[in-house]
Amino acid sequence: MIMMFDLFKQKLPEGFFKGACDVHSHLLPGVDDGFPTEEKTLEALAFLHNHGVQSVKMTPHFMKDYPDNTREQIEHRFHAFVEKYASAPMPKLSLGGEYMLDSCFPKRLSEGFLCLDKEHTLVLCETSYMMMEPRMKEMLYDAMLKGYQPVIAHPERYVYADKPLYHRWKQKDYLFQLNLFSLAGAYGNTAQAKAHQLLKEGVYDYIGSDLHRLNSIEERVKAIKLSNKEIDLVLKLLENNERL
Ligand SMILES: [Fe+2]
Repeated sequence: MIMMFDLFKQKLPEGFFKGACDVHSHLLPGVDDGFPTEEKTLEALAFLHNHGVQSVKMTPHFMKDYPDNTREQIEHRFHAFVEKYASAPMPKLSLGGEYMLDSCFPKRLSEGFLCLDKEHTLVLCETSYMMMEPRMKEMLYDAMLKGYQPVIAHPERYVYADKPLYHRWKQKDYLFQLNLFSLAGAYGNTAQAKAHQLLKEGVYDYIGSDLHRLNSIEERVKAIKLSNKEIDLVLKLLENNERL
């Protein structure tokens, strides 16, 4: 059903992502559930380059499902890829990680996180979509003791998260990263409604694509409908991205 207010919403203007920095992607080939091959990654990077995206952070999953994704291994894969395709048309690449709050997290903390920022403090963290991780607070506290600041990946996607929980997370100084395609309903109506609400409340700090594949990306971008105020808020998040 089209809400009355949707009539006042509009698609993103042409060239909206010119100069943008994407802080969350699964473009490092063959290391997680993202892009499976170098060819697919190169195709996606060329697409982003052609649309004016200036820089991309590759943030592969670090979680117990991918035990081989140690910091050393991922750094090795990243540098090998960058070296091999140094002359290919693509945005500027840098390496971070997306750290699941699971039994692997303490080990990854001890080897040092791959961060989103040049100062090596902002660490992108995710938790289970369905169930609150009971040790979340303790794990993030341990990370903060070592000087890291957690950035919660796509908080709108966690089904158990409600307004009081978001408030508690913000009170603990966790930063929030919005998934762009949550605004288009890519993860369902509830995540979409939460994304719009949290955006309007001004609680997001960064925005990323969380790109896993290129499939129908143009349609997904066209499905994003925002009010003028929301467009301004997304532009502010893109400005924050640029400062990383
Ligand atoms: Fe992700």
